[in-house]
Amino acid sequence: MCGIVAYLGNREAYPILIEGLRKLEYRGYDSAGVALMQGNTIQMYKKKGRVDELDSYCASKDRHGNAGIAHTRWATHGEPNEENAHPHVSEDGTIALIHNGIIENYLSLKKGLLAEGVTFKSETDTEVLVHLIRRVQEKEQVSLPDAVMLALSMVEGTYALAILSVDDPDQLVVAKKGSPLLIGTEGNEFFVASDGAPIVGFTQDVVYLDDGDVGVLRLGQPIKIKNINDEQHLLKRPSFHKLELTLEQLEKGGFDTFMLKEIFEQPKAVRDSMRGRINLKKDVVSLGGIIEYEQKMLNAKRFIIVACGTSWHAGLVAEYIFESLVRVPVEVEYASEFRYRNPIIHEDDVLIAISQSGETADTLAAVEIGKKHGATVIGICNVVGSTLARETMAGSYTHAGPEIGVASTKAFTAQVTVLALMALSLAKKKGTISKSEYHKLISDLETIPEKISQVLEQEQHIQRIAQYVATRPNALFLGRGVNYPVALEGALKLKEISYIHAEGYPAAEIKHGPIALVDNTMPVIVIATEQETYDKVVSNVQEIIARKGTIISVVTEGDTAVKKMSKFCIEIPKTEELLTPLVASVPLQLLAYHVAVIRDCDVDKPRNLAKSVSVE
Ligand code: M6R
Repeated sequence: MCGIVAYLGNREAYPILIEGLRKLEYRGYDSAGVALMQGNTIQMYKKKGRVDELDSYCASKDRHGNAGIAHTRWATHGEPNEENAHPHVSEDGTIALIHNGIIENYLSLKKGLLAEGVTFKSETDTEVLVHLIRRVQEKEQVSLPDAVMLALSMVEGTYALAILSVDDPDQLVVAKKGSPLLIGTEGNEFFVASDGAPIVGFTQDVVYLDDGDVGVLRLGQPIKIKNINDEQHLLKRPSFHKLELTLEQLEKGGFDTFMLKEIFEQPKAVRDSMRGRINLKKDVVSLGGIIEYEQKMLNAKRFIIVACGTSWHAGLVAEYIFESLVRVPVEVEYASEFRYRNPIIHEDDVLIAISQSGETADTLAAVEIGKKHGATVIGICNVVGSTLARETMAGSYTHAGPEIGVASTKAFTAQVTVLALMALSLAKKKGTISKSEYHKLISDLETIPEKISQVLEQEQHIQRIAQYVATRPNALFLGRGVNYPVALEGALKLKEISYIHAEGYPAAEIKHGPIALVDNTMPVIVIATEQETYDKVVSNVQEIIARKGTIISVVTEGDTAVKKMSKFCIEIPKTEELLTPLVASVPLQLLAYHVAVIRDCDVDKPRNLAKSVSVE
């Protein structure tokens, strides 16, 4: 949700900022803007729409300057237009600011500022910050960093900020609470961004700000950080980390879109998520990141899984795997609901938070609730150094590599892989799995990358099915057991990138209402692979055929019963039932992808969405 990038150094800032915005555009793409320090004035350009539109607009403008801030927006308050685009400036034009997050008490702050005669130009919550900081500076006669510290102590909400002031053109002030912010340094240069993508081409050395940190970057000086929660405002020693990211990972690598690249990367992503964690010869699975809390996990009376969107679907798959293998009750919760419903959490609960980005605001809030109640809190995430990774007690990275397409694909299969490894490791230690079952499952896990590759070879066949689905206004996705979350995920992929209305259901549930929707115009995508309830799924398919629904099926190679009843059929390699989602979800990703392409949708940046939902 909104990407911010800033630069201070001796090069021209504009090219660094605009390229940085392109790399962060997946975080929001309603409007974009840039402010450059030119001598003692701030030059600002803003445009509704994508970063390319801002860049074309700026082509004829004066773009020089060695310091600047830039923003790509996902609108929260106020429609996407130039007035609401960031940066926002103080009335006297001396301070410019960019913001990612939400200022929750902005209405009361705004009321106070209006009463003091401040004129607002936008409908955003952000604009209150710039006026508030300027007012504090004037009233208290303090430096910009001190004014920022004071102003932020009056603010409720979340923010990542970068601020320029004409009073000190060689300085950049940054601040963070609840939204991510990194500072990279190299020689006499500073690079600031919402994530590592805009920084990695310049330096690998970064500092992740903590909540409440205010950083002052000055040419020729080391980074200075204080925290607004420290009453004495003592200087903190910045802690440097290495960025685990390469420029190559941020490119499309010959594919038309990031999403297609990421779908095709899944054999590697799944392999990487298992690397060093399975020893087939010794029949051992171990996840280094959770060893310290393993005993707590073994003693857990209950697992609570919290996540959003696709990560929530991975959590649902995990419910089947954990309950079946570890024999401990599992509850899977939407983080956004969990955080507001006064949940009952015990100290012997283990809360597992799943998030690709590690920045999803609701998931992070659920983590805080888990910690507050004394539960053991474990994270599963993809982005190294993300807030989730830092705020949980222990966890496992999925190692899927950067996921840039807004629709999550390889992150899902990598999450399910890690969750399966976790369940296997716990089940073996608890003695809730037989040796043969354990061996069968880890052997099958090892073959998953190859099975996904076989599914990917069917792309052209799936493209033909997409021609049919692309003409339909609705679609139903059905599955049972561990394939029920696969149906949900297939429906989510289709609706979010092709804008076709789609619903996922447990196959048997449709008799309780949704079957009323079935007629000869309704495609029904059924996951009917070999599983305990296969015969039941066959009956469900017959019920749909009887109502003239069109069956598109995903079946196990060699299937005859469902295949015969299907208008289109996708065969996938035989897989252990509990691991089926790792393979069965892939054709549904390809189907959604090709439907979206046929319908001329922007696959990587679907309308109204953003990759990282760092606001409520
Ligand atoms: O980064 P997270 O995994 O926490 O993100 C959760 C959801 O926002 C995300 O999965 C979203 O639903 C995707 N657009 C689905 O493709």
